[in-house]
Amino acid sequence: MVSRVIPVEPFDLVVFGATGDLAQRKILPALFRRFCAGQIPAGTRIIGAARSGFSTSDYREKLSSDLKQQVSEQICDVDALAKFLQLVTYVPLDATGEMGWSALCERISGAGADRVQVFYFSVGPTLFGPLAERLHSYGLTNAETRIVVEKPFGHDLASARDLNRTLASHFEEGQIYRIDHYLGKETVQNLMAVRFGNMLFEPLWNSQYVDHIQITVAETVGVMGREDYYERSGAMRDMMQNHLMQLLCLIAMEPPAKFDPDAVRDEKLKVIRALDPVEPYHIVRGQYAPATGAIGRDQNYRETVENQRSSTESYIALKAHISNWRWAGTPFYLRTGKRLKARSSVINVMFKDAPHSIFGEEAGRHANHLKIRLQPNEGITLSVTIKEPGPGGMRLMDVPLDMSFAEALGPKGIDPADAYERLIMDVVRGNQTLFMRGDEVEAAWGWTDPIIAGWQARGDVPKPYESGSTGPGDADLLLRRDQREWRGINP
Ligand code: BG6
Repeated sequence: MVSRVIPVEPFDLVVFGATGDLAQRKILPALFRRFCAGQIPAGTRIIGAARSGFSTSDYREKLSSDLKQQVSEQICDVDALAKFLQLVTYVPLDATGEMGWSALCERISGAGADRVQVFYFSVGPTLFGPLAERLHSYGLTNAETRIVVEKPFGHDLASARDLNRTLASHFEEGQIYRIDHYLGKETVQNLMAVRFGNMLFEPLWNSQYVDHIQITVAETVGVMGREDYYERSGAMRDMMQNHLMQLLCLIAMEPPAKFDPDAVRDEKLKVIRALDPVEPYHIVRGQYAPATGAIGRDQNYRETVENQRSSTESYIALKAHISNWRWAGTPFYLRTGKRLKARSSVINVMFKDAPHSIFGEEAGRHANHLKIRLQPNEGITLSVTIKEPGPGGMRLMDVPLDMSFAEALGPKGIDPADAYERLIMDVVRGNQTLFMRGDEVEAAWGWTDPIIAGWQARGDVPKPYESGSTGPGDADLLLRRDQREWRGINP
């Protein structure tokens, strides 16, 4: 199945931080792929801006070699690359000084008042304010200006509020696109399609039928290359406060009246606000350590960050409760970690046992279970109870009704669009549904802050776990205490 491409009108997109890692790995490859798909028309202007003193031809040369590595020739050939590079220019610019701003004004002069202008802040949050101020003082904005800001959106509630205030003094909320790239993932959006596009699940989607829900985002990578940032963040700030929180919201929210930015974000916000504070004994923090015989700095968190006393967690598991009519009494177990056994993001909705077994206890009981695989092997499996085949009485067994999106969507598989492709084009189209609103981000920090403050007050130290394992043993206890078990972490 080939996805439908709806071209947009020519637009201007300025990437601040154009020589950085994110621009090189995600933003420019995403634009290039959308160009090759025929979505970005001629006349569009993509302007890279950063401190490095490149000329446009230097930058194009660098970009050309980056894109050749990032995007396969089957998707974009050399002719397409040459045409794409013609859309791209570069301006050396200082976000905190005046260097380059007049040149940027010239570069995007002549744009009509209704031409879409996207300013992508692919820079650290300390530069958001200076960039926003200069965009205004140099008169670079119009009614169709949008700014895109990357995570981390703050470090805690106070800093997120400051950032929101700074941005709000120059832009309307409707112009601010806060990215959480998890919301751009095909299968994450499928969560909403599965829940609200089918009659089958929604009547059962509550504490009367759901025993508990597990959300796992397991990674095999460590933190090498991002040591400073990670040491200050840890898994709570890096993953739980944003990506897992967003998954939790999509799984738990009430059906919005329509698929419209504020309707969806209002419902997500209600979920975050209904979250109970988490008890300290419902949280397990871990830090990866080398498995027996393993060598290499990246196997050992403390060596990677060169801090033998580090108390930053590279793993966190917790039990959350949502105090509302739908979910009271159904725990949500969330876990995420680095250097785990496999890369696997999965949501498991575990239904309750049937209230009575007409076959007798000896036939065995199997509760239904819906597994939503977000990555890799995107798809859905529903476990259903049937009779064990063969003679010998009525014994029950579990069988999976399995749907792999890649198989179901035909020989070409799912549209391989990356989250950034979808999100950037949503910015250009002016659709904020998949972006976080300021109050949502603040509410998420409001839930996270007391947890982190508690660790600091108690001098909490994460438990070591072996690289390549499923995480610290205490995380298993978290569920065992409730007579439950984590589902496996499998690729
Ligand atoms: C980022 C985190 O936001 O998400 C990283 O900062 C993490 O630490 C990454 O590795 C995971 O994203 P994905 O798309 O690979 O699941």
